[in-house]
Amino acid sequence: MAEESFTIIDNRSGNEVTVPIVDGTISSAALRQLDKGMWFYDPAYLSTANCDSKITFIDGAEGILRYRGYPIEQLADSSSFLEVCYLLLHGELPTQAQSDVWVDHITNHTYVHENIARFMQGFRYDAHPMGTLVSTVAGLSTFYPEAKDIDDPHNRMIQIIRLIAKMPTMAAFAYKNRLGLPYEYPVNNLGYTGNFLRMMWNVADPSFEPDPILTKALDVLFILHADHEQNCSTTTMRTVGSSQADPYSAVAAATCGLYGPLHGGANEKVIRMLHEIGSYENVDAYVEKVKSGEMLLQGFGHRVYKNYDPRAKIIKQTADRVFNVTGMNPLLDIAMKLEEVALSDSYFVDRSLYPNVDFYSGLIYEAMGFPMDMFTVLFAIGRTPGWLAHWQEMLDDPEQKIYRPRQKYTGPDERSYVAIGNR
Ligand code: SDX
Repeated sequence: MAEESFTIIDNRSGNEVTVPIVDGTISSAALRQLDKGMWFYDPAYLSTANCDSKITFIDGAEGILRYRGYPIEQLADSSSFLEVCYLLLHGELPTQAQSDVWVDHITNHTYVHENIARFMQGFRYDAHPMGTLVSTVAGLSTFYPEAKDIDDPHNRMIQIIRLIAKMPTMAAFAYKNRLGLPYEYPVNNLGYTGNFLRMMWNVADPSFEPDPILTKALDVLFILHADHEQNCSTTTMRTVGSSQADPYSAVAAATCGLYGPLHGGANEKVIRMLHEIGSYENVDAYVEKVKSGEMLLQGFGHRVYKNYDPRAKIIKQTADRVFNVTGMNPLLDIAMKLEEVALSDSYFVDRSLYPNVDFYSGLIYEAMGFPMDMFTVLFAIGRTPGWLAHWQEMLDDPEQKIYRPRQKYTGPDERSYVAIGNR
């Protein structure tokens, strides 16, 4: 059998180096054995693996997604979001005793300092909740100065618990603040996702309880968003964490990365697109505009999945359960027609453009009553355990150090300063 290796030859000198293939990768360090001033040029890291991770496996060709080896379909069907948080962070599903302690820790850390609650009231009524969230998460770092001690695993876990527990509270407070409504403080008897829905929707009704079907549906959506290996925001988390910044600052940075419309902001863009299309009859004309390059088909395409995003399939199944409670979202017909037209058109098929996680999630969020600019906030709640699991893994990885890639310099050669009067 051929040796599992590559040989790189420097044709200028005839020197060569043989590089073993390890887990589907070759080390770029071998190149510097041939030429210390040579770098691989890989804008946007299209062909680069930046770490060795044991958290999430994706097979883009086969549409496979597994958290710590467990297929996403099984976790969505049988697990809970808090159990998936435990799995991502600890590497194993919890025993009942471990789960009880974990849930108790999260449940008892949902409050934020009253100064944080007041800080959030400084934002305007029309502040995008993602802007409020990233600012507030960063501000949390000032309340837990001990979080800078990133070398203490016990201290790290306390901050991890706080961040997972407080994201829903900050999300709901951002929403209520915009409406000028009083905050609904966390309660401990509704579970993680039920408590979040109560903080979102309840106004002064002590007996309020969220619909159990909608609570379960949102819990599944949080599971589906919990991690996705080296996506833009998770790589941001690792990058900021590699400087040994505290986890609140790193999560705030990752949340900023998620905010972008090419990443987590896509779910909001999908719904705006569907409203813009407006009717079933307008779909074909819209698709033609996309094919002319005039705009993207929001919620389609993926850097890794060149097949159907497995999460999109599960979300479509979840949508039926939600619409049975909320009534059908009229945009669903437009979305399904858009999918049907795109999946039969060579422009999309040739580019392996399939619906991704964001294509259908917004339909559910809108049907549940969330305003469009809260959709990415929901994504951030779900992705927080994934960001933190990668942060923790990066800190424990002996191969990792501060992220500092190189560049290809193509700017001007040395030149002398010219006084302004002579320019
Ligand atoms: C998420 O990384 C992750 O894992 C992300 C995520 C996660 O869980 O963290 O899965 C969540 O961010 C999902 C993606 C959400 N974003 C969108 O839905 C926005 C629309 N999608 C595109 O912006 C795009 O598909 C990306 C950003 C998702 C992927 O872009 P790539 O991998 O850089 O692909 P590309 O831009 O090089 O596209 C290849 C071709 C190009 O055409 P050509 O230049 O070859 O002619 O496909 C075209 C692109 O123009 N194309 C699209 C398109 N996406 C790519 N054309 C129309 N509509 C689209 N949506």
